[in-house]
Amino acid sequence: MKPKKSYPKEVYLNGSWLKPEKAQVSVFDRGFMLGDGIYEVSPFYKGKAFKLKEHLQRLQYCLDEISLDFDAFSLEEVIYEAIERAKLSTEDCAVYMQVTRGVAPRTHYYPEDARPTVLLYVFPVILEGFEKKTWDVMATEDKRWHRCDIKSTALLANVMANEEAVAAGFAENLLVRKGYFTEGSHSSLFFVKYGVVHTHPEGPQILSGITRAEVIKICSDLGIKVREKAVHIDELVEVEEIFVTGTTTQIIPVTSITHKNKKVYSASKDSITKKLQQFFIERTRS
Ligand code: PDD
Repeated sequence: MKPKKSYPKEVYLNGSWLKPEKAQVSVFDRGFMLGDGIYEVSPFYKGKAFKLKEHLQRLQYCLDEISLDFDAFSLEEVIYEAIERAKLSTEDCAVYMQVTRGVAPRTHYYPEDARPTVLLYVFPVILEGFEKKTWDVMATEDKRWHRCDIKSTALLANVMANEEAVAAGFAENLLVRKGYFTEGSHSSLFFVKYGVVHTHPEGPQILSGITRAEVIKICSDLGIKVREKAVHIDELVEVEEIFVTGTTTQIIPVTSITHKNKKVYSASKDSITKKLQQFFIERTRS
């Protein structure tokens, strides 16, 4: 069964705090009409920020890449106010932020005088207990665009991929481009092969995950070798462990991969994933 999600009690929209049913956006908002917007999701552990600067930097990078003139760091104050207002200052929660290009008559080019539409809200999230989970996943072709480094609100290809997985009873869909794994529909992807951690290099084919960067840092601190190199689907026979990472996912081991209705991978080990989970908990909770 698909998990049910509820709305937050309040959202921040263009400078006002509103009940969701009162928060309205024009039908000519370019986010609604064209998916012309950027989003970000940033975690708070018992109300304490984790890598907020990095999340805001990524938001700024994405806004700059699409020439959307907005200062991502101006949201910092709003974020803390949102957490206070939602009474989540001592809880695990995450902040959703979205900036669209705003309202203008529909054009394929950027309008000159649109004002960005800014939406922000905080929601409770379960960040504990991920170390007890495992995921059986599927793999399909990566049908996304060629700028996956831009965290665009236009997520239809990700949504279609995730829906296909969830409808078939899988936890996630791992995406494959020209035979090489890129990432999950909403997670970064790691492989352990002969004791070396592999992950797709940064660039236009993946989102530069903030959790991904922290995992790479933990590996380096622990002396675990990392190769930022894509893994081909034919290499799965040599892979011992696979795990996915993300702000709400944290670090979850992949126990099996099904591709074209055939099981193409079963995990044989979990020791490196377990070690990384343990250190990740220390870093996020200390
Ligand atoms: N998704 N890759 C994709 C395609 C993602 O959508 C995400 C996160 C990640 C992990 O990135 P990070 O570690 O910075 O969260 C990788 C967010 C959480 C979402 O869409 O809700």
